[in-house]
Amino acid sequence: MNIKVAVVEGDGIGREVIPEAVKIIKILEPDFELVPVEIGCGKWERTGTAISKEDLDLMHECTCTLFGAVTTPPDPNYKSVLLRIRKEFDLYANIRPYKYYQIKSSPYQPAKPFEFVIVRENTEGLYSGIEKITKDEATTTRLLTRKGCERITEIACKIASQKNTGITISHKANVLKSDVFFRNIAAQTIVKHNIAYNEVYIDAMAYHLVLHPQNYHVIVTTNLFGDILSDLAAALIGGLGLCPSASISEGYALFEPIHGSAPDIAGCNIANPIAAILSTKMMCEWLGKHESAAIIQQAVEYAILHQIVTPDLGGVYTTTQVTEAIIKYIKTVHFVCRE
Ligand code: NAD
Ligand code: IPM
Ligand code: MN
Repeated sequence: MNIKVAVVEGDGIGREVIPEAVKIIKILEPDFELVPVEIGCGKWERTGTAISKEDLDLMHECTCTLFGAVTTPPDPNYKSVLLRIRKEFDLYANIRPYKYYQIKSSPYQPAKPFEFVIVRENTEGLYSGIEKITKDEATTTRLLTRKGCERITEIACKIASQKNTGITISHKANVLKSDVFFRNIAAQTIVKHNIAYNEVYIDAMAYHLVLHPQNYHVIVTTNLFGDILSDLAAALIGGLGLCPSASISEGYALFEPIHGSAPDIAGCNIANPIAAILSTKMMCEWLGKHESAAIIQQAVEYAILHQIVTPDLGGVYTTTQVTEAIIKYIKTVHFVCRE
């Protein structure tokens, strides 16, 4: 099958890190057809709309999308582009893996190695879009459905089975009835698969994850809790610049770094490209290109081990220099092996 990838750089550092990730795809998977799609705040400033029907059509014509980051435009009526895309493609499972790296100058480095995945429901909960604001009141409906709770837990079960680990359900069922609903359905789904599980309240989860990340393997949670826990987990491994993600549905997927457009460092060539590069690793896995995925992981680990990293990780290298080192590793070590 001819693989077509929609490439959305977006805004800010999205325009710096996605071109770096694309360089690596072009080397490892030269047959992929890359389709640029302009979406984001820049487009909104130029045309008055951040995403058009034609952009969505282009994405639909592709097998999957590689996405940078979009700046939220300063417009009170703006509806998030990402949320629209997640709904349009029903990208219900947001998979966010966290791996411990030895970061030599990290301000915070947990004592023991760890590896866990946050499986975040991506289309409902407090992101339902059902909102009302009047002069005196504002409400957002936290909508959870049986189907939504079941299918996100099924994804967590699949990942736990592959890794041969248990699952932690994280919720706030001591307060929220909607989380009693989520907890019960998640637990019933996990039991059917004969997988071990425990439960941790989301506030305590933040605490335990910082203190004992090695105790967790697969964490399944609802949309906003997963969003917040994701950035906390990013700080644990050395920063947002290291964290990729995949948003998947049955037939489509979007791969993006967890970070945003980082306006504070945009245009300086110091954004860490690793989150975007590891997002292409996740894309290769989803597309069945496991050899390329493994090569990308090794090359990233090589750069980190040799401290060829950007300032967020205490390094002195630029965005492009880090990518150059990764590409050099790929070309020297792996192309020799492939011959
Ligand atoms: P952010 O993730 O852009 O930045 C948070 C902090 O992390 C900043 O200090 C930034 O410099 C740093 N950082 C992030 N990525 C980095 C990288 N690759 N290398 C080095 N440092 C990095 O979050 P924010 O500042 O809250 O949001 C900025 C804009 O991005 C907002 O408009 C927000 O709505 C949007 N946003 C978009 C997405 C997305 O499109 N996926 C995700 C989150 C935020
Ligand atoms: C993320 C982002 C998005 C979210 C925003 C930009 C809509 O923070 O992908 O983590 O809240 O899901
Ligand atoms: Mn987020």
